[in-house]
Amino acid sequence: ATFRILVTPGDGIGPEVMEEALKVLGRVQQRFGHEFVYDEETIGGAAIDRYGVALRPETIAKAKASDAVLFGAVGGPKWDDPRASVRPEDAILGMRKQLGLFANLRPVRVAPELIGESTLKPEVLQGVDMVVIRELTGGLYFGKPKRRWENAEGRQAVDTLRYSEREVARVCHVAFQLARQRRKKVTSVDKANVLRTGQLWREVATEVGKQYPDVELEHILVDACAMYLVRRPASFDVIVTENMFGDILTDEAAMLAGSMGMMPSASLGRRRKDGTGIGLYEPIHGSAPDIAGQGKANPLAMILSAAMMLRLSLGLDREAKAVEDAVDAVIREGLRTPDIAGPGAKVVDTRTMGSAVAER
Ligand code: NAI
Ligand code: MG
Repeated sequence: ATFRILVTPGDGIGPEVMEEALKVLGRVQQRFGHEFVYDEETIGGAAIDRYGVALRPETIAKAKASDAVLFGAVGGPKWDDPRASVRPEDAILGMRKQLGLFANLRPVRVAPELIGESTLKPEVLQGVDMVVIRELTGGLYFGKPKRRWENAEGRQAVDTLRYSEREVARVCHVAFQLARQRRKKVTSVDKANVLRTGQLWREVATEVGKQYPDVELEHILVDACAMYLVRRPASFDVIVTENMFGDILTDEAAMLAGSMGMMPSASLGRRRKDGTGIGLYEPIHGSAPDIAGQGKANPLAMILSAAMMLRLSLGLDREAKAVEDAVDAVIREGLRTPDIAGPGAKVVDTRTMGSAVAER
């Protein structure tokens, strides 16, 4: 079949890891006989330099006409001035909001070969296989009022945590549907003991859960969740939570996998009947200016993000599995980029790693 993919490499290591993901997709194309039609757009800091804005309306229009967006990373010291009116991050926030991508899926798996090389305890890492679903277009990041002002008492600021029943329900449905394809357990994370939004979150999660009697639902408070992620991470299957709680918990969970360079993500909106729909796929890491241009970036997070795209937006399960198996194979064979290299490891550069995956 023919699929349209919008590619936005971005800044720093973004273009470096994107090149490897496209290399792997090229092989998938040959091997399985699909046609991927690519369109490429400049976003982030590179777009600020070229167009004066991080995200052009043309880019959004092209994204909407595509089956999926493959997103590298944006940002860098060159555009870090906090007083600037345009910022590279506008590209990712704008893309999520304007495409209605309300569910961010972040799988956390620890390759068995990496467990022994981790600085964390093997008995804690054994069997870790979870997906954290972060609500992405509501909550504390977007609630109004959101402003700063000054009065007789000095400087003041407010952010608002607001959720509607509909916003909570739709992301919970994503969690239960995913759990059905996995170990059938959903952990809903809130702060129901203190926050009204937490009470609403818990009520709605419970109601949605009734429609999935085959899936176990547990509720835990966000502070306890932070603790359990370190103490018994293997007990989680699917976690679903508010935007900012999810932001914090997923960085914590990423450390279980050893490196940001191993962590893919998918941001999804409304789904079609067959379960597919437009999505944005990106590694959870940023543009890593400290290693950009040196061939040190780990391309696996970007490659695994492309695998998620194959499965969740293009409906190509077998092809996604082939890519994931190839990643497992190169890890098993001992290839390591510097971020995941233990003592005595076979250290390879970004391109060698990408080519090895494509080859497998
Ligand atoms: P970062 O994720 O870019 O880097 C954090 C650390 O992890 C660095 O030491 C980096 O070298 C390492 N790292 C990240 N990805 C790696 C990979 N694939 N292989 C090997 N090592 C890797 O986060 P940081 O440094 O806080 O931010 C750098 C820039 O990226 C900032 O401008 C930030 O705003 C932006 N950023 C963009 C995101 C996006 O586009 N979605 C997300 C996070 C940050
Ligand atoms: Mg974050």
